[in-house]
Parts: sequence; C-alpha cells; structure tokens
Amino acid sequence: MSRNLLCLMVFTLFITSCNNPLKEYVNQEEDYQIIPKPRSLQVLKGRFEIDGNTAIKAEQRLQNEANYLAKLLYIASGKKVKLNTKGNIHLKIDASLVHQEEYILSVEYDKISITGKTPKGVFYGIQSLRQLLPAKAETSNDIKELTIPATLIKDAPMYAYRGMHLDVARHFFSVDFVKRYIDILALHKINTFHWHLTEDQGWRIAIKKYPKLTTIGAWRNGTIVGHYPGKSNDNKRYGGFYTQEQVKEIIAYAAKNHITVIPEIELPGHSSAAIAAYPFLSCFPDERSKVPENMMSEASKKAQENNQPKIVQESWGVYDDVYCAGKEQTFTFLENVLEEVMALFPSKYIHIGGDECPKGNWERSPGCQKKIKELGLSNEHELQSYFIKRIEKFVNSKGKNIIGWDEILEGGLAPNATVMSWRGNAGGIAAAKAQHQVIMAPNSHCYFDHYQSKDTQNEPLAIGGYLPVKKVYGFSPIPPELEKSKQKYILGGQANLWTEYIDSEKKAEYMLLPRLTALSEALWCPNETKNWSDFKSRLRHFRLRYDALGLNYAKHVFKDTTQAK
Ligand code: ACM
Repeated sequence: MSRNLLCLMVFTLFITSCNNPLKEYVNQEEDYQIIPKPRSLQVLKGRFEIDGNTAIKAEQRLQNEANYLAKLLYIASGKKVKLNTKGNIHLKIDASLVHQEEYILSVEYDKISITGKTPKGVFYGIQSLRQLLPAKAETSNDIKELTIPATLIKDAPMYAYRGMHLDVARHFFSVDFVKRYIDILALHKINTFHWHLTEDQGWRIAIKKYPKLTTIGAWRNGTIVGHYPGKSNDNKRYGGFYTQEQVKEIIAYAAKNHITVIPEIELPGHSSAAIAAYPFLSCFPDERSKVPENMMSEASKKAQENNQPKIVQESWGVYDDVYCAGKEQTFTFLENVLEEVMALFPSKYIHIGGDECPKGNWERSPGCQKKIKELGLSNEHELQSYFIKRIEKFVNSKGKNIIGWDEILEGGLAPNATVMSWRGNAGGIAAAKAQHQVIMAPNSHCYFDHYQSKDTQNEPLAIGGYLPVKKVYGFSPIPPELEKSKQKYILGGQANLWTEYIDSEKKAEYMLLPRLTALSEALWCPNETKNWSDFKSRLRHFRLRYDALGLNYAKHVFKDTTQAK
C-alpha cells in the first residue's frame, strides 16, 4: 500500500469518526439510572448503538452470560446478536480483580467490555448494562435506534449474602412463577433464593423414601377465610408440590442467573404436614391435631371422626404438635429426608428452621423427658439445642452447613451454625459476638408480608405491621451497636415473603415490589453512600421497567409525600 493511500484511509477514518454523532453525543446524569447504585460511574461522551453488526465475543466459560446478553438484546431490538470472535461487545474474566462479584463495565461509542473476576461478576455487569437500555427494551422487539450511553462503571457489592425468601408452603407457587421470581431477583443482583419448602400447612418437596409427605402432606382440606384465627373455613382442598425433577430444573435455572437456592426444611416445629403424613413423628400419634375453634374443614372433621387424628393445618400460627425429640425414628426420618435434599441442592447451606417450636408436647412426653435425663439436660430448650446440634452434625458430615432462625441460640448454639436473625437484631448480635456467621432479616425492616400503607382498610389483607419502602431502604445489616471486630460475621441480609395472606402470584409481586428494589440497594451499597432522594428518583425510572415486564407493584411510594422526602 502506498504511503499516500494509507494517509488517505487514516484521514477518512478520522473524519468519519469526528462526524459520528454517536461518538460526540453528550449524555446527561439521567441517562444512568441503575439500581443498586454502582460504586463508581462516569458520565462520558458517546453512545454505542445496537445494530446489525453488533456481536458478542466471549470465552468458553462465559457462554451462559453471552447467551443471556444476546437474548436481552434480541428482546430489545429484534436483532439476532451473534456470538463470534470479533464481537464489539467483549465479555472477559480478569483473575487479578479482587472481589468475586466485582465487575467493570466500559461502554464507548464503538465497543463495550464487561470484565469480572468470575462469570458472576460479568453477569452483574450485564444487569447494569441492561439498565442503561430504555425500560421498553425489556419487552419491545423493534426499538429502532437502540443506543447505550458511554460510561465506565467499577462496581462490587458491600455484602456477600443478598437474599430473598419465598414461602411456598402456606400458599403454593408454580414452577413458572418461581422462575419469574428468580428473574426478578437476578434483575436486582440478589444472589440467594431461600426456598421455604415445608410447613404446618403443606409439604412441598417430593421425597422418594417418604411418598406420603406429598400424597398426604402436600394437601389440606381447606383454608381459613380472613385474618387469623379466621371467619370460617373455605372447605376447598388446596395444595401442590415440586417433583425432584422440577426442583432440579429450578436450581439449574437459578444457577444460570447466578442465584444459589437454599432449601428450608423446618424442624423441630412447623411440622404438622409431615406429622399428618407420618403420625409416628409426633410424641402423641393418637392425639387429634388442634385447630382454632370452629375453623376446621368438614373433610378434616370427618377424617378425625374416622380415626385419622392428624391433619395438614388449615389455619396459620404456631402448633404444639412438633417432631418428637424423644424418638430415634424422628432422627432417622429427618436424616433420610435431608440426605435426599442435600443430594438435590448444591448449596453449601441447608436451612433447618428452628423457630417457633412450642415445648408443651416435649414436657408431656415420657420419651422426651427420658432423653433429657439421659443426656443430663436441664430443660426442653436444651433438648431443642441437642436436636439442632444432632442435625447439624449430620449435615456437616455431608460437607454442608446449617442456617437456623435465631431461636437456635436458645439452649446453646450448634458449633458451626449460621444464624438468621428475624426477631430484630439481638439474635444476630449475640451470634456474631459468639463468632458465628449471621444473616440479618429483622422483622422490623425485612418482612415483606407486612402492610405497605397505614390505611390497611384499602390494602389487600396482610399479616399486620407497616413496612414502607423507605424503611426497607434504611436497612443496614450491620447493626450500629455491633463492635467493629465482630462485624465481619455479618454475611449480609435477606427479606422474607411469608405467604399466609398471599394467595396469588400478582399479590406476591405486589408485596415484593418495590420493596425488593430498595433492599437490593441496602445490600449492595455501603450504608454511608445511600441516599433516599437519589434512590427515589432512580426508582421512578426503574418503575417503568416493572411496567414493561408486566410486574404488579405497590404504588404508595410514588404518591406518598412522607416517603417522598
Ligand atoms: C419466622 O418468621 N417465624 C422466622
């Protein structure tokens, strides 16, 4: 090539790029509306256009992320974005980055790169890129000039554990809905889904060794109407469960979205459904299940008259009939159940519940009293501690760890247990002081089954309480009174969606959003960098994304002037 020709080519390139309006485009702050807010974000000149030439370059181990991004861009633009080695969107791993979930997102007018230490970091970079696209890109298939503002984002989360829970036992949710729920969590960079699978009112996971858990335990003969203890019983058979294949499908789906699924198998309390299936698990197999007065379904009344004393519960609350700690068969049963559960779930943690276990049956049970004597225990709280420690030993022997609600502190904490603090912060503080790992989920800030307005008459029925978005935003997993040297034990936080009063998918979304959006920032950002009014202004944009995705959400925060401040 002659020198003149080369000069001409370089000059032409220079002129074309100078004239490229996308290169010179001046972006505004409001072009960058990301939740949770990135640690550092630069407003830069220029915009990248998704067009027929857009392609993604990614190494083999980032194929999942490349496909995820290609799908997002296809949904937005209707253009099939190719995966090839020359792509102008480059996904890469950089092992020299520090944090497992860190990412760097660079957008220039002619190229994009997303770098992570791990595929998870790259995935979070993609989620941030997603929020730089207009909200309608979530579903529209033919946005004509789809452009992304130039930026350099360097980001990493504050907390390693960012969880969201769903109770599928009080009300059952379909596999499709659980996947949709996981999609919503992924959008918010939540990394853990706590799946509450067993309860008094239903057992929801198939266990091959104990088929009655789902043939009997997954179905109740009715449900109370109205607030606990109820106005009446609807007398409608209700239930459902997940097969082990469906469980695997959900775990795999979550893994693609970089979400770990932690199953919860409740013990020793909240076990009426298992006891209905296998009455030997109770200290008193022949005693009738107790129900709030006049609240039992006709079918259950008949069953009890026909010598079937145990029922899957139809009302809410806490029940005395719990797993019998005085019987070896109870432990054999639970170990067999946990063995199947642990084989299904790759999670390092298994949640074993531990909350709200009344001790009345254990006090009356000769078997339990004998155990207390034999083991030299001083009371039933210590018997519960023995119960949890024994289960922990079994779970640890399979290479996994337990999480339990903060009641597991009572009577002595199991040696390797992680505590999930729900009755405020006190349990979490005590556990951290004892050098145990902690997940904070205080009911003051993290119970999404609480009302979102004080005007409860005009709200769908909820369990009680009042938890507006602003209060969730104010949540900080590290309690201010916890001494510095113990703060490292706080892994992060979680919100819980208990579903006694949430009987539909739409209502679940309504209770979840926008509180989850506030939670995501409370778990991603250091407390000092949070700013309510700035968040609220980004939330107004984020809301358009709910709309585009067809999500049902509570609107109080967009109207309420007290929350607006
Ligand atoms: C709980 O809310 N009982 C953990």
